[in-house]
Amino acid sequence: MATFTLPKNSTIQTGKTYKAEAGAKNVKAFKIYRFDPDTGQNPHYDTYEIDLDKCGPMVLDALIKIKNEVDTTLTFRRSCREGICGSCAMNIDGMNTLACLKPIEDVKKDVRITPLPHMPVLKDLVPDLTHIYAQLRSIQPWIKTETAPPPDEERRQSREERSKLDGLWECILCFCCSTACPSYWWNGDRYLGPAVLLQAYRWIADSRDEATGERLDFLEDPFRLYRCHTIMNCAATCPKGLNPAKAIGEIRQLMIERQG
Ligand code: SF4
Ligand code: SF4
Ligand code: FES
Repeated sequence: MATFTLPKNSTIQTGKTYKAEAGAKNVKAFKIYRFDPDTGQNPHYDTYEIDLDKCGPMVLDALIKIKNEVDTTLTFRRSCREGICGSCAMNIDGMNTLACLKPIEDVKKDVRITPLPHMPVLKDLVPDLTHIYAQLRSIQPWIKTETAPPPDEERRQSREERSKLDGLWECILCFCCSTACPSYWWNGDRYLGPAVLLQAYRWIADSRDEATGERLDFLEDPFRLYRCHTIMNCAATCPKGLNPAKAIGEIRQLMIERQG
């Protein structure tokens, strides 16, 4: 019988519990993944009991309260606090989402918070996005043109042309979708994944872009595009309500049309 050994540092251990202050009546426990590669120690869960009567309504408010008042070493990304920058993406109660848009009242009594899954962790809730940003660069996410516009004129779009970008431009590059995609988990070294493919289609669908053929040539690859198996985790988890699988389907349809 085959035996497998878990890699060093793969077991998550139990850490400290920070009790709520005495007299707190509305307490919720946040169980948070902690990992610091510099210590050489295994990851662990620390538990922070928070008095919700003295906390804002969102999970990000609780994280900021913990960092400000309980444990300054807790590390996470955040910026806008309104679902625009994409930096507070993490896994909350088993679902990838944005901490700033997730109401505390919608999570379990003992909520568990971990980094986005299947990514290398830099520290605590901060994943290393180096590879996925390199993949984003590879699809050249900007308008590419061959022709010059008439002098002093913008490159205009009709309302109909502009509407083709709806469902695409709203993407905030939080990567909740790619890190929820089983195909990206197994083949993320070569499969571009839902977030980057949605971006690829965003530029293909832009009437001002003149590089569709070049873009499709780049994507015509068994791994870059064709690892999507329509599992739909991406659409289920996107905190902006987008459907990357649909965008991937549109690219595949264009591939078929240009062969025909
Ligand atoms: S539909 Fe495709 S991209 Fe979306 S989660 Fe499934 S395999 Fe991944
Ligand atoms: S499609 Fe949705 S989940 Fe994926 S990166 Fe964009 S906003 Fe985030
Ligand atoms: S802090 Fe910007 S999306 Fe949450």
